[in-house]
Amino acid sequence: MNIEIPILNESQEQAIAEQQLGRKLYVETYGCQMNVNDSEIVQGVMHKHGYEMTEKPDDADVILLNTCAIRDNAERKIHERLTHLKYYKKRNKDLVVGLLGCMAERLRGDLLGEKNLVDLVVGPDEYRRVPELVENALAGDQGIAVKLSRVETYDDIIPLRTEGIAAWVSIMRGCDKFCTFCVVPFTRGRERSRALDSVVDEVRQLWDNGFKEVTLLGQNVNSYNDEESGYDFADLLAACAKAVPAMRIRYTTSHPYDMSDKLIETMATYDNICKYIHLPVQSGSDRILKLMNRHYSVEHYLERIAKIREYMPNCALSTDIIVGFCTETDEDHALTMELMKQVRYDGAYMFNYSPRENTKAWKMGDDVPLDIKTARLNEIIALQNKISDEINKSEIGKTFSVLVEGPSKRNPQEWQGRTDTNKVVIFPHDLDEQQQSDYVIGDCINVIVQRSSSATLFGVRV
Ligand code: 5AD
Ligand code: SF4
Repeated sequence: MNIEIPILNESQEQAIAEQQLGRKLYVETYGCQMNVNDSEIVQGVMHKHGYEMTEKPDDADVILLNTCAIRDNAERKIHERLTHLKYYKKRNKDLVVGLLGCMAERLRGDLLGEKNLVDLVVGPDEYRRVPELVENALAGDQGIAVKLSRVETYDDIIPLRTEGIAAWVSIMRGCDKFCTFCVVPFTRGRERSRALDSVVDEVRQLWDNGFKEVTLLGQNVNSYNDEESGYDFADLLAACAKAVPAMRIRYTTSHPYDMSDKLIETMATYDNICKYIHLPVQSGSDRILKLMNRHYSVEHYLERIAKIREYMPNCALSTDIIVGFCTETDEDHALTMELMKQVRYDGAYMFNYSPRENTKAWKMGDDVPLDIKTARLNEIIALQNKISDEINKSEIGKTFSVLVEGPSKRNPQEWQGRTDTNKVVIFPHDLDEQQQSDYVIGDCINVIVQRSSSATLFGVRV
């Protein structure tokens, strides 16, 4: 049952915020970068209502899980986590547990109803309602808000970002592509874009607040369209690049069908637009691409890659690949391997096909046995590792401008940073006699690469 929540005026909001002062919120995020930014939006909303953030679930009065539904194993992980959170609830009877994001719509009945695992369920377009739903939960009422919107972009909400030098900025929400395997158009709804000016203002503010890199986010950024002005994604990228010329600007994710010449030319024009493109191909077989409703052929895809390389010879490329989609044969699989050899991606995210309810592919069946899927997956992972390793070896001896991120996780004596092609570089953090360094987190330094692995470059400062 949907509980109707009244829209509060400002003084009522203020009163709620005062009541909440000191309450602690813990948010756990699963899935893609859109979810990371969505969690920051929810934290922004809750912070305005007087909540403090905590990194420890044990300290929290409210625990929210921001969920991902893209593959079955993501959902399984969240179910396990929810079962575990029951013990927190046993220890603290007043604890409120909520589920946000892509799993909300599909699983609301299950989770709120008989299993009684959570107190609130909130879909991706209803985050403004989280404070009121938490309030209801504290009063003992379960709550649900999962309507999708055609207009919500959270344009006016300032995401609560933890420190760092790199920020995510959502420029659009939803997806209209309806790839037959993908649940996103159902969980996140229709495509809608933020206004160009509002995105550029946010990027400018981030620079003023010390951020050095932004990633413009959307399920399919190439479809970005500012309805008022008619500006497209290339216009937005150029406007951001011009507004903050020293900020590194990235974006994800592109759809090969919409990868326009104008966008490629814009990327090539501005030095501060990073030369890295994530261009999911999904399969190297035209027959499978058609079944996936991807709207492009291998020929079109390779022509786009050629154009990118013509304009930006050093541009790094990564991709997503699904193995074992319905009816995929050994021949289809061999075509995917062939395409990988032809493109030579710097990196790839590779997945077994996971059937999702509601999607078109769900009805096509899941006829590739798991052992064959896994064998194909292992084969493409091995091929990609080999290619990444070879590409990274060819970087030895070259000097890169590296944006310093701070101590490396493995060894704090060494620091890490990233090239504009999005490669992680590890280098010794040399200190002078006064134990000082002449660079800090957020600076760009030149590093010469001395050795490499398939995932990382290692070098020294020059
Ligand atoms: N099964 C496996 N992988 C999927 N992806 C999306 N839906 C599925 C699915 N049902 C992958 C695609 C997409 C990436 C974000 O996740 O490769 O590009
Ligand atoms: Fe899913 Fe396809 Fe949209 Fe990407 S473009 S979110 S894979 S439907």
